[in-house]
Amino acid sequence: MRFVPVICGMKNLSLTIDYIEYDSIDELNAEDKSLMQKAQEAANTAYAPYSNFSVGAAVLLENGVIVKGSNQENAAYPSGLCAERVAVFSAAAQNPGVAFKTIAVTAKSSKIAVENPVGPCGSCRQAISEYEVLYNKPIRFLLMGERGKVLEIKDVKSLLPLRFEGKDAFNF
Ligand code: THU
Repeated sequence: MRFVPVICGMKNLSLTIDYIEYDSIDELNAEDKSLMQKAQEAANTAYAPYSNFSVGAAVLLENGVIVKGSNQENAAYPSGLCAERVAVFSAAAQNPGVAFKTIAVTAKSSKIAVENPVGPCGSCRQAISEYEVLYNKPIRFLLMGERGKVLEIKDVKSLLPLRFEGKDAFNF
């Protein structure tokens, strides 16, 4: 019997993400707590008559400016926009050339208790990723629900592994 070696390059790989969990907003440092409070203020400006889910985001820029955003819905549902993109696009439009440092996100609802941290949707992750790549600086996330735990994630790359960066190669 002839032994035929099989050449196989298959590998089982894995990616993990690190994040920090705080029991409450009160465990955050003063700057982060204040940013999350701005996100909470922003949630009050949401226009969400269709979902009753009010999301607030606050973006801290490298120049210290904070820009708030909230979700804006529309009778033609897909025409609305998430809080994160409202905040980030507004921040970018008002502060061209300035990198982003941190984005705080929170949500509340008149219909359900939002007990867990709210993660940005996939489209928002991709949109925010653009600015992390553009400025080559990590954009940190602080995520919370209406109350309770806060999660801190160090960059968009962690939230969107194998992301598309407009190039033909992944950048791990
Ligand atoms: N929404 C956000 O604003 N951000 C998210 O990260 C998830 C969802 C909005 C979109 C819509 O207005 C409502 O929440 C329900 O999906």
